[in-house]
Amino acid sequence: MSAVLSMVNSTVPAYVKHKKLVAWVQEIAALTEPAHIVWCDGSEAEYNRLCDDMVNAGTLKRLNPELRPNSYLAWSDPSDVARVEDRTFICSERKEDAGPTNNWEEPAKMRATLNGLFKGSMRGRTLYVIPFSMGPLGSPIAQIGVELSDSAYVVVNMRMMTRMGKAVYDVLGENGEFVPCVHTVGAPLQAGQKDVAWPCNPDTKYIVHYPETREIWSYGSGYGGNALLGKKCLALRIASTMGRDQGWLAEHMLILGVTSPEGKKYHVAAAFPSACGKTNFAMLIPPASMNGWKVTTIGDDIAWIKPDANGKLRAINPEAGYFGVAPGTNTKTNSNCMASLNENVIFTNVALTDEGDVWWEGLTKEAPAHLVDWTGQDWTPDCGRKASHPNARFTVAAQQNPVIDNNWDNPAGVEIDAFIFGGRRSTTVPLVTEARNWVEGVYMAATMGSETTAAAFGQQGVVRRDPFAMLPFCGYNMSDYFQHWLNLGAKLQSTGAKLPSIFCVNWFRTDEHGKFIWPGFGDNMRVLKWMLERVEGKGQGVEHVFGTSPRYEDLTWDGLDFTEAQFNAITSIDKAAWTKELELHAELFDKLKHNLPKQLEDTKAVIAGRLAA
Ligand code: GTP
Ligand code: SPV
Ligand code: MN
Repeated sequence: MSAVLSMVNSTVPAYVKHKKLVAWVQEIAALTEPAHIVWCDGSEAEYNRLCDDMVNAGTLKRLNPELRPNSYLAWSDPSDVARVEDRTFICSERKEDAGPTNNWEEPAKMRATLNGLFKGSMRGRTLYVIPFSMGPLGSPIAQIGVELSDSAYVVVNMRMMTRMGKAVYDVLGENGEFVPCVHTVGAPLQAGQKDVAWPCNPDTKYIVHYPETREIWSYGSGYGGNALLGKKCLALRIASTMGRDQGWLAEHMLILGVTSPEGKKYHVAAAFPSACGKTNFAMLIPPASMNGWKVTTIGDDIAWIKPDANGKLRAINPEAGYFGVAPGTNTKTNSNCMASLNENVIFTNVALTDEGDVWWEGLTKEAPAHLVDWTGQDWTPDCGRKASHPNARFTVAAQQNPVIDNNWDNPAGVEIDAFIFGGRRSTTVPLVTEARNWVEGVYMAATMGSETTAAAFGQQGVVRRDPFAMLPFCGYNMSDYFQHWLNLGAKLQSTGAKLPSIFCVNWFRTDEHGKFIWPGFGDNMRVLKWMLERVEGKGQGVEHVFGTSPRYEDLTWDGLDFTEAQFNAITSIDKAAWTKELELHAELFDKLKHNLPKQLEDTKAVIAGRLAA
C-alpha cells in the first residue's frame, strides 16, 4: 500500500462508515499528495486549534479580546479578493446545457486539465475532510456535501457558514448521498519551503462544476465563494440544476419575515446582485416613525424554494452563517448587523486599528488617525488609498443576529408572499414597480440590469444584464431557467393557489452629483409596506408601461423629509431611456435565443407597443 493510502486509512475515524467516501478521500489524497490528513469533527476545540495554528502561521491576527472577543482578521493575497467569474465553468455534457452565460468545457477535457493541476497540489500541506449539510441536518430538503480542502481558513469559515461536523456522518450512514467538493489553493510546498500567510495560485484558477454528476472542483483561490464550496457552487450552481430536474428553485435571495403593527406576518424573498443590499434588507430596522413594523431574518444570500402540497411556495435558507460585505456597514445603516459582529467573527480584508480592532470605510464618519490597511501597510486618512478592500467581508454564525426569525431553521421553511428583484441602477429604473402578473414578473427579473460591484473580480460600475441576480450562479442554460420559472408559475396557478406578487426595486438612482437620492436602508421599509399593501389588494398606485408604481401620496412619509420633487426624480419613467433599455433587453434575448421562452418575447413586444403608443 502506498504511504498516502496508509495515511488515509490510519486516520479514518471509527464513526465514518461510508466506504465510498473513504475510497474517494483515498483517491484524492493519492492525486494531491498531502503531507497530512485531518478528518474534521466540527468541534469548538478543533476550531480553536486551527485558529491558533493560523495565528502562528500569520494567516490570522487575533483581535483585541476586550474589544472583539474570540475574533480574527485575515488579509488575503491582493490577487485573491473576490469570486473569479471568468474562471468559473459549468461542464455539462452538452454546451447548450451550460448556455451562453456560462463558461463551458467538455467534461472529459476539463477532467484531464484538472487532474494535471491537482497532481501533487497539496504537497507539504494538510488535506482537511470537511463534512457539511446545506439546510438543517437530516431534513429531507437538506443536501450533504463533503469538501476536501488544503486550507484551514476554509475549515473555520465552513464551520460558521454551514452545519459542519461529525453529525453529518450519522446522516450519511453507510451509503448516503453527498456532493463531492475538491478544493486546493494550488500552492504546493517543497521540502523546507516556508509558507506564506495567504497561499493561493496567482496565475491559475478554476472553479468547476459537473452538473450531471454533481461534482465541484476548485483550484487556485482561497477566497469566499471560490473556496467555501457549499455556498455558490453547491447551494446555487449545483442546486439550481437539482431544482430544474425536481421542480424547485435555488435562488440568490434573502428571505425575511415582516410583521405589521396589527401583528400579521408576511414573508418576502428578494434577489439583488452581489453587494447590492441583501444582507442589509434582510436585517432592516424600520424608521422610528414606523416602529410598529418588525423585520426578522431567515436568510441573507441564498433561498431554496419548493412548492408544498397546497401549491404554496415555501423557502428555506440552506446556510448557517453570513459572509457579508463590511464596507458601508455601520450602526446607522444596519445596527442589527453591527450587533451580530460583536464577537466570534472572522473578518477578511478590513483594516486593523492601533487598539487591535477592525475598521472599514463607512464604519465611522471620521477615520482613525492611523491604521494598518488590508495590504499590511501603514495608513492615514490622507494617504489616498482605501484602508479595507471594497469586497472585505465578515463571517459570522446566523445565531448571532439579534433579529433572527423563529423559523430560520425550520425544515418546513416559510410561505412566500412576494418576490422582489432589484438591481443597482443610477438611472432609468424607478424605485418600485409591481408586475401585473407572474409572466411580467418573470420578464422583469429576466431583463434586470445592474452596475457591477467589487464582489466579483473585474471592472466595477458598468451596467450588465444580471437575470434574477443569478448571472454568475445559474448552473444551466439561462433560457431553460426562465422556462422553469414560467412552468412553476403555471403549474401553481393551475391548482388555484394565489401566486406570490412580484416587484422590481431600485434604491440606487443618483442626482447630478452622483449622490444617492433615496435614503435607503431602514427607509426601504416605506417601500416594503407599500408592497405588502399591494399583496393585500389595498395599496394604491398608477399603472404604466411595465407595471404599477406608487404615487407620492401612496407611501408613508412620517419622520422623513423627502419632497415630491425628489420622489419624482427616483420614480420618473423617461421614454428615451426606456426605449434604450428595451434595446438592451433585445440584445439579451438575442444572446439567449436558444430555448428563450416565447412568452418573454411576447411580453417584450407588448411593452414595446405600450411604450411607442
Ligand atoms: P452578497 O453577499 O455579495 O451577495 O451581497 P449583498 O446583496 O448581501 O450585499 P450587502 O447587503 O452586504 O450590500 C452591501 C452594499 O450595499 C454596501 O455598499 C451598502 O452600503 C449598500 N447598500 C445596502 N442597502 C442599501 C440601500 O438601501 N441604499 C444604498 N444606497 N446602498 C445600500
Ligand atoms: C456574492 O458574491 O454574491 C457573495 C460573496 O455572496 S461570495 O460568497 O464570495 O460569492
Ligand atoms: Mn451573494
